[in-house]
Amino acid sequence: LGVFVPAIVVAYLVGAIPFAQIIARMHGQDLRTVGSGNIGATNLARACGRRRGYTCFALDVLKGLVPMVAARAAAGSLPETDAATVGPGFLALWLAVGVAAILGHVFPVYLRFKGGKGVSTSFGVGLGLWPYFTVAALIALLVWLLCAATWRYVSLASICASITFPVTLAIAVAAKPDWPLATLWPLLIAATAIPLLVIVLHRQNIRRLLAGTESRIGGKKDRSI
Ligand code: G3P
Repeated sequence: LGVFVPAIVVAYLVGAIPFAQIIARMHGQDLRTVGSGNIGATNLARACGRRRGYTCFALDVLKGLVPMVAARAAAGSLPETDAATVGPGFLALWLAVGVAAILGHVFPVYLRFKGGKGVSTSFGVGLGLWPYFTVAALIALLVWLLCAATWRYVSLASICASITFPVTLAIAVAAKPDWPLATLWPLLIAATAIPLLVIVLHRQNIRRLLAGTESRIGGKKDRSI
């Protein structure tokens, strides 16, 4: 607990760093008045070009990944694959670090609590889970890439990837009898709650998708929703 409480606070403050808006400001733009108005890598790519969007994506992923890895290192090593030997309390506190980073990104203290949609930072947290669960994050990334390539909507790809993560985890847990629910319930709760939050944060995108007005990657409407 002594390690995790400060780690949760620091993770929130790190997650709250609005890299997209900082980079946009460096180029004389305010993301709140451009494209979707979102403080995220996709909207930054619309406003300032794809290269900066990728840079922001990497930084936003690190906001989730670094607190997870750092908290785990500070709390002592976890068994790499044997989830059963990790208590649910430890798991819940460790996951709280990742959730704090995501909530920091979505509700940043530095921007009056109006931030992004949490896709990249959630992916970073998923990557920071120990190897077996990292695979679930990588499968979600694969689904994101396939959806983005097929439909060319970033938001739809993010929603599909959000659904993929808990489904993949549930299949993995069901397939491994040595991972008891008594241990893993914090993971299943977080892995369901965070994607739900991400999908709710995409409600305006969902409305635009249904209305056929959502901007496509590389499309003409990309710069002016
Ligand atoms: O990660 C956010 C993305 O899924 C949608 O971004 O700017 O199109 O609302 P945006």
